[in-house]
Amino acid sequence: MSTLNLSVDSDGVALIVIDLIDRPINVFTPEFVNDLSQAVEQILTRENIKGAVLTSGKQGFIAGADLKDLVNAYEQGVSPSDAATRFNRENALFRRIETGGKPFVAALNGQALGGGLELALACHHRILANHPKASVGLPEVTVGLLAAGGGTQRLPRLIGVEKALPLLLEGTLLKPEQALEAGIVDELVPLFELLEKSRQWVLEHPHPQQPWDIKGFTIAGGSGPLAEHAGRSFAANMAQVRKRTQDNYPAPLAILSAVYEGTQLPFDLALQVEAKYFAQLLANPVARNLMRTLFINKGRADKLARRPQGITQLHISRLAVLGAGMMGVGIARVAAAAGIQVVLLDSNLQAAERGKEQIAQALEKERARRGGSHDAVDAQLARILATEDYSQLSHCELVIEAVFEERTVKAQVIQRAEEHLPASAIFASNTSTLPISGLAELSQRPTQFIGIHFFSPVERMPLVEVILGKETSKATLAHALDFVALLRKTPIVVNDSPGFYTSRIFCSYIDEGMAMLAEGIAPALIENSARMAGLATGPLAVTDEVSLDLQKKVVDQAIADGLAPERQRQHAQPVISRFNTLGRLGRKTGGGFYEFPVGGRKHLWSGLAELYPPRAEQPEVQEIIDRLLYIQALESARCVEEGVITDAMDADLGAILGLGFPGWTGGPLLFIDTLGLAPFVERCKQLASHHPRFQPSAWLIQRAALGKNFY
Ligand code: NAI
Repeated sequence: MSTLNLSVDSDGVALIVIDLIDRPINVFTPEFVNDLSQAVEQILTRENIKGAVLTSGKQGFIAGADLKDLVNAYEQGVSPSDAATRFNRENALFRRIETGGKPFVAALNGQALGGGLELALACHHRILANHPKASVGLPEVTVGLLAAGGGTQRLPRLIGVEKALPLLLEGTLLKPEQALEAGIVDELVPLFELLEKSRQWVLEHPHPQQPWDIKGFTIAGGSGPLAEHAGRSFAANMAQVRKRTQDNYPAPLAILSAVYEGTQLPFDLALQVEAKYFAQLLANPVARNLMRTLFINKGRADKLARRPQGITQLHISRLAVLGAGMMGVGIARVAAAAGIQVVLLDSNLQAAERGKEQIAQALEKERARRGGSHDAVDAQLARILATEDYSQLSHCELVIEAVFEERTVKAQVIQRAEEHLPASAIFASNTSTLPISGLAELSQRPTQFIGIHFFSPVERMPLVEVILGKETSKATLAHALDFVALLRKTPIVVNDSPGFYTSRIFCSYIDEGMAMLAEGIAPALIENSARMAGLATGPLAVTDEVSLDLQKKVVDQAIADGLAPERQRQHAQPVISRFNTLGRLGRKTGGGFYEFPVGGRKHLWSGLAELYPPRAEQPEVQEIIDRLLYIQALESARCVEEGVITDAMDADLGAILGLGFPGWTGGPLLFIDTLGLAPFVERCKQLASHHPRFQPSAWLIQRAALGKNFY
């Protein structure tokens, strides 16, 4: 069999070693379910076999379902009920294991996630190898699904509804000690004892039964509306889930329903309830969108799918960061954490040392909070050299400049750095707005010039936007991506344009919020609608964070550069100017659209009502949500049209990971594909009747007519 090996020892104990050929990890595939079914039948029907131990031939046990398979099923139009049928086969197999009359032990040699844990739960006994990489959990909720291999039914029966719900609703992974304490596994043993202990259990328990198959079984703590915990488990969780998800994610509610209903029913009926809710989730595009963007495409990006082939990998061992300000400090910190030697340079030594001191303080704070050794902190700091001396750049393979956002300052540091850099070194700019091709003109080696754009705060934000200038070479791109991978961040690759990709989308979003304010839409309505759409932060709140003076600089630059009027952000500009005149620049001045009282909670500034009196009739929430999402989706489509985005995955990952675009959509382009391009274009035209910026381009209209998706 291509997915497992079955052997039987002289005591009559069968050993099933799960080991999918050509796969780095074990996942559930139709072939595996077939093979396992056949193996289980042999074990149950051959008289000389007493029972079986299930383990894996790979490092982990089983990582769950094959998400690619599920997304393909969507694409090929497999109906939700057909897809659910596959899980019915799994469930029949699991039932056969637990009711077949012979003992099955799950010998978990590492991670058992999703279907992997569900298979283990169907076994009569679970022994987990006690090592740091082992964990168990049912993380289906994080991809918009529920544990449909009996997970929503066996787990609450095993450990009680109240303990099971948080694990199912949050997809928490438990380390060995936690799994034992929770009662999910029965024993922890060192890896080398795993198989022998499991074998012994089989020999000592010839006729095991699952607790839920024993007559009179009741769930610890009870189930249903009369259980003592029902208010906490169901009513309180329901309220919390709805608050957290704003009903954009159907999986947590489906899980609550499946557990509530299923735990009041006999086991086989309970499985049918689970299957019903699972089919509903499969029919909803949210699960596909989450799987596609945040798992499959994020995985591809992390494995450097956009790296040009045939170029030798470059291991950056020495990096220079120019500018020890907010971004430079963050970049130096994450690079040193990745083991890279960093030269942190500012215009004077004090400024550079101040930057290094900030890193020292941040690391110490983190150490105090998370634990860890002083030695590790010291080692990380020892890798950072604070300096004002450009000759220190002479051994660096890569430079990232993060000096003031002014072309003249950038020109100066490019020239000074290149006087000392090795000829092969790459020069990267962390600019958020200045076109890379223009900056590359200031360099002696434009083919080795590239944009590596980090997000703030650098240590927390997972995304890096890599921007190609007109002359950037393939090798430069490949090596920039090697560097991003070293930092364990997710790269997207985009072509040059003012604002690249992410800043363009970001500006379209905040500008729409400011335009609404100027129209007399109540600010609380704007901000709450954004939250209801699942956007990470309201447009006014996030503008306060990035500051209104920075926005003014960007607008002024766009005008100075003679950009087309629609790129000059005309509808937001009056609001930006007004707040600059008032000196209300955002959080850094203690107030912008919000007030930031010292020691108190931030709240919308009461003066807004005077500046922009709310009009008598306010729009529907859905209208505001549409405007906030459509404007970003439309700008993303425009980036495809202009060739800034060449792979839809970059746009979607960039918007979700970098800007807090709602995950349930799968990103702005998948949002359009999910709606259908033609209905999207129609709605844009409707919005354009009041707000001309929503007018779709001729290119987009034609694409809609041809029915061409972005994916
Ligand atoms: P910042 O003002 O905090 O830091 C700039 C640093 O550069 C200062 O320490 C300054 O002393 C230093 N500097 C200025 N001229 C210099 C020179 N000639 N030689 C050496 N050092 C010099 O600015 P921030 O926020 O760190 O931004 C830096 C760059 O990163 C800008 O290009 C900005 O557009 C970009 N960026 C900023 C983001 C943000 O959220 N603040 C996000 C992504 C990119």
